[in-house]
Amino acid sequence: MCDSHALLALAVSLARQAEEIISCASERTVIATKSSTTDAVTATDVAVESFIRDELGKLRPADGVLGEEHGLQAGTSGVTWVVDPIDGTVNFLYGLGEYAVSIAAVTGPPNPAQWQVQAGAVLSLPSQRMWTAARGQGAWRDGVQLSVPPPKPLAESLVGTGFGYQVARRTLQGKVLAGVLPACRDIRRLGVASVDMCLVAEGGLDLFYERGLNHWDMAAASIIAQEAGAKVVGLHNEPAGNTMTVVGHGQALSELVALLEAQGADDIEI
Ligand code: IPD
Repeated sequence: MCDSHALLALAVSLARQAEEIISCASERTVIATKSSTTDAVTATDVAVESFIRDELGKLRPADGVLGEEHGLQAGTSGVTWVVDPIDGTVNFLYGLGEYAVSIAAVTGPPNPAQWQVQAGAVLSLPSQRMWTAARGQGAWRDGVQLSVPPPKPLAESLVGTGFGYQVARRTLQGKVLAGVLPACRDIRRLGVASVDMCLVAEGGLDLFYERGLNHWDMAAASIIAQEAGAKVVGLHNEPAGNTMTVVGHGQALSELVALLEAQGADDIEI
């Protein structure tokens, strides 16, 4: 069953409960690494995801769950929860800036490429900013409905981006960044892709792009950005995804997509 309003209410509730676990975390130490030695997992990442999986198992046992730390557990209901227990783990580790709990409910076949996001919540900490959206019901931040500001050219746009954890990917991302930097107002690297995308929804950034995002980084934020009027796209008319995700609207989005395509930002399979 897909009641996007009910799915959103549960996503919000789970994010708030996750906040309690995160705020009680006394130690911020790395217990494992993933794609490289800098791709850290903390005990809190694992504890938050385990908590969310347990709650979903009790409340919606037929649903699937895809989480950053424990992978995909397929369900039978047609609904899958996509969870990043702490997006911005490096910020969390260093006690720097923001990090976020990101929870989305998607529907569709087992193939994630065909998923449609129905509802999403991104709770940014420690500021406690909560962005939410349900399909067809608008995007909101703490009770205020969001709408992207009027379009502007790339040259006047503040552009968020992020980098992967592997050296080869970063090398390519650095080259692409060198092409984007002179073409825009300035660049920001917050370290939390979900929050970057939510900021585009409210005009805190004009654009965001990143290669290498996973479903858990972007599922919830993608519906928030879209419901606020932004587009979430890939290059060469492909959908947004691991190869490239670009968020924005109007002239600036078209210019950034053209620039990234011209630079071959998605050419090499890294
Ligand atoms: C990371 C953050 C970062 C982005 C990386 C992501 P994580 O998520 O969103 O901003 O640049 O690509 O992997 O690893 O902290 O959940």
